[in-house]
Amino acid sequence: MRPVHVLNGPNLSRLGTREPDVYGAETFADLAALCRETGRELGLSVDVRQTDDEAELVGWLHEAADAKIPVVLNPAAFTHYSYAVRDAIAQRTATLIEVHISNPAAREEFRHTSVVAAVATGTIAGFGLRSYVLALQAIAAEGE
Ligand code: DQA
Repeated sequence: MRPVHVLNGPNLSRLGTREPDVYGAETFADLAALCRETGRELGLSVDVRQTDDEAELVGWLHEAADAKIPVVLNPAAFTHYSYAVRDAIAQRTATLIEVHISNPAAREEFRHTSVVAAVATGTIAGFGLRSYVLALQAIAAEGE
């Protein structure tokens, strides 16, 4: 099975209790199970991680780049201001898809800027947890 890393930034461990009107009622454990199950169906071995720490996320991006592993990344708030995360993504050696649960373009002004979008392969946003499923399908399709 092809490995894929599903990496999540700050506050995403709080899914289920965090602003459920925006992010839904499902928990991070539900998201992780959905990603792993989707991966199994698509022949992908999915490793799901979450951190609130920018340095840890940068380290995970280096790890994926060194091992040529595709990544589904929800950078959360780092999306809007982290040049460190952007520079780590720019080193990617495989597909990297930026995902968002909500549609940042339809929300507050500060969310309209993504400093990572230009160095990602593409972006999927606004489909709830299904954004991750769509990203995994896109990665599986390129391996066919
Ligand atoms: C988010 C959108 C970001 O603006 C926000 O900071 C998040 C979650 C999303 O998945 O919709 O933490 O990335």
